[in-house]
Amino acid sequence: MALQTEIKVAPDSSTLADWAAGEFVTLAGQALQAGSRFSVALAGGSTPRQLYARLTAAKLDWKKIHFFWGDERCLPPDHKDSNYRMAQEALLSQIPVPLENIHRIPGELPVKDAAREYAEDLRRYFGSLTPRFDLVLLGLGSDGHTASLFPGKPTVNETTRWVAAVVHDVPPPPLVDRVTLTLHVLNAAAHVLFLVSGLGKAEILARVLQGPYQPDLLPAQGVRPVKGNLLWLVNQDAAELLAPHKQK
Ligand code: 6PG
Repeated sequence: MALQTEIKVAPDSSTLADWAAGEFVTLAGQALQAGSRFSVALAGGSTPRQLYARLTAAKLDWKKIHFFWGDERCLPPDHKDSNYRMAQEALLSQIPVPLENIHRIPGELPVKDAAREYAEDLRRYFGSLTPRFDLVLLGLGSDGHTASLFPGKPTVNETTRWVAAVVHDVPPPPLVDRVTLTLHVLNAAAHVLFLVSGLGKAEILARVLQGPYQPDLLPAQGVRPVKGNLLWLVNQDAAELLAPHKQK
């Protein structure tokens, strides 16, 4: 079980991004007071773009912040569907972060090579023990996936490897191979923050948060930080079918 699990409902997606940026700044500030660097695994997809844009105005010591990714599509870094490219455009190109702090997954490589190189990068940064990210950002797919942990795939049950190569040939698109952190690493994080927005996520969010526990079918349910905090920031539309927040 997570140390603490919380669900916060924002009135709209702009407020959601404000709250998420506030969380990021608070956690980075706390970590940098206690230590010398802050590690974050960024989420892909489209929801976090507004958060990344907000962060460009944050007063943080970017030299001490290291950016990783929860998952990547096997595409060149300048491809429109690259998770790296989205973060680069919305955030990284706008802040004074040293290049060596950007630990992108090399999506231009064949999937197994990309996964191996990323695992090596993690090892260089975190050492030989399971990585403990200060913060992991995640999104929720309308099929219950998170990062690139898809329903019914064996990767969901990985208990030792940090990084997995995923053949992705059924929707949701883009249908390209993926590299993903495993639940083993996601659940070792100090803080995990899900960002979920839009009516299109209402049904799956209610299933993930309030339905039976079936992580094989709903991989997002498998995210339960062992010694960390779990926060779901969702907007009102996405929360539409959650019992306590049901609007109609
Ligand atoms: C990816 C992701 C994925 C994403 C969800 C939500 O690379 O596709 O990291 O897990 O976070 O699919 O995506 P949206 O924010 O676009 O709804």
